[in-house]
Amino acid sequence: MSKVDILKIAKEAQDAKNLNPNIVNGTIGMFLDDNHEFIIHDVIDAYHNLNLNETFKYGPTDGGETFKKNVIDWVFGSKVKDIQKHFDISVIASPGGSGALSLIFNSYGNINDVVLVPDIRWRYDYFINSANKETISFKLFDENNFNIKDLKEKIGVYASKQETLLIVINDPCHNPTGYQLSNHEWDELIDILNMYDENQIKLIYDIAYMDFNPEGLIHSREKFIKLTKLKRHVEPLIAFSASKSFAIYGVRLGALIALHQLKEQALFFKNVVIEDALGKWSTAPSVGIGIFNEIIKNKDKYLTSLERFTHILSQRGNIFIEEANEVGLKIYPYKGGFFVLIKHENPIEVFEKLKQNNIYLVPMDEGLRLALCSIPTNEIKGLATRIFHIIK
Ligand SMILES: Cc1ncc(COP(=O)(O)O)c(C=O)c1O
Repeated sequence: MSKVDILKIAKEAQDAKNLNPNIVNGTIGMFLDDNHEFIIHDVIDAYHNLNLNETFKYGPTDGGETFKKNVIDWVFGSKVKDIQKHFDISVIASPGGSGALSLIFNSYGNINDVVLVPDIRWRYDYFINSANKETISFKLFDENNFNIKDLKEKIGVYASKQETLLIVINDPCHNPTGYQLSNHEWDELIDILNMYDENQIKLIYDIAYMDFNPEGLIHSREKFIKLTKLKRHVEPLIAFSASKSFAIYGVRLGALIALHQLKEQALFFKNVVIEDALGKWSTAPSVGIGIFNEIIKNKDKYLTSLERFTHILSQRGNIFIEEANEVGLKIYPYKGGFFVLIKHENPIEVFEKLKQNNIYLVPMDEGLRLALCSIPTNEIKGLATRIFHIIK
């Protein structure tokens, strides 16, 4: 079920809510503030400032020099100098973080290679299948912590079978659980990747929700320093989503940021990755690139808005988790972000039951995903109790 059609379920929930405002729509990964608005005014201002003569032209395939500089500055923040000193960086704009992931799975490794993904995950399977590769999962959790042991075992098995290993890590605010690796878990991960120096390792680092880290924007950026401890056979490929950070989901903007450690990695990016984009979409939508470049002109103002959204999310998370603990509703370890995953053995069955009771969630293999991001805080209160009684 890792290929569940979330967009279809979300449409059904939205249609139901249009007819009945009492419906709780916890299906989709879009941030809705407590006034039920998902549009961010700073972003609308940026949109109105667009120069249409530039916006309607074809843009460069990589997004252009201003875009590339802005993405690097935004993503690495206070750590940008350290990252630039350590790595040779390539960037290409893409239609959403999805586009970046599609470029990675298509360009790196060989046909029929396996890609290591967590057993609890967002729908990477679509991209991996269409790149003619196979998905193999490692266990995300060992009780309440990251299961480094299982990942190590899986790497051990496939390192002897294929030269290039692609490994997906979605952190912080993992979708669908809201988990976040601790500093110690990151150190262990780096140590393990460093061990396999006979292989080419691509660390596919999906940072879609980085800007909603409950520990703050600065903390998210500090994690990047860990990447400088990677040996040269490990190349971090970062999938950035502007959809989430700027609430421009339908505009379709993201970027692939590759941190090269070897000359041939930079050459590969130029020859293979850029060509893959040319063979897919030619250039990412200029509207998104324009909006992003405009927002960056007023970056500090926007950062203040983001801090406010993260605070709202944390409040929703605290209310839900506290209540879930009180009533005994079982959930996977949650640290922050858009989603919580409720444990259940028959997710499809209870998904239907919840629908009959006006609650729309997303059924996944391991339970039901609840999008805290799209439920206003007043609707969160009492929700864990209602869910508990419906699904028990
Ligand atoms: C974990 C994760 N990665 C990447 C994406 C890609 O987002 P988009 O293509 O909308 O930028 C999503 C979207 O929901 C996601 O949840």
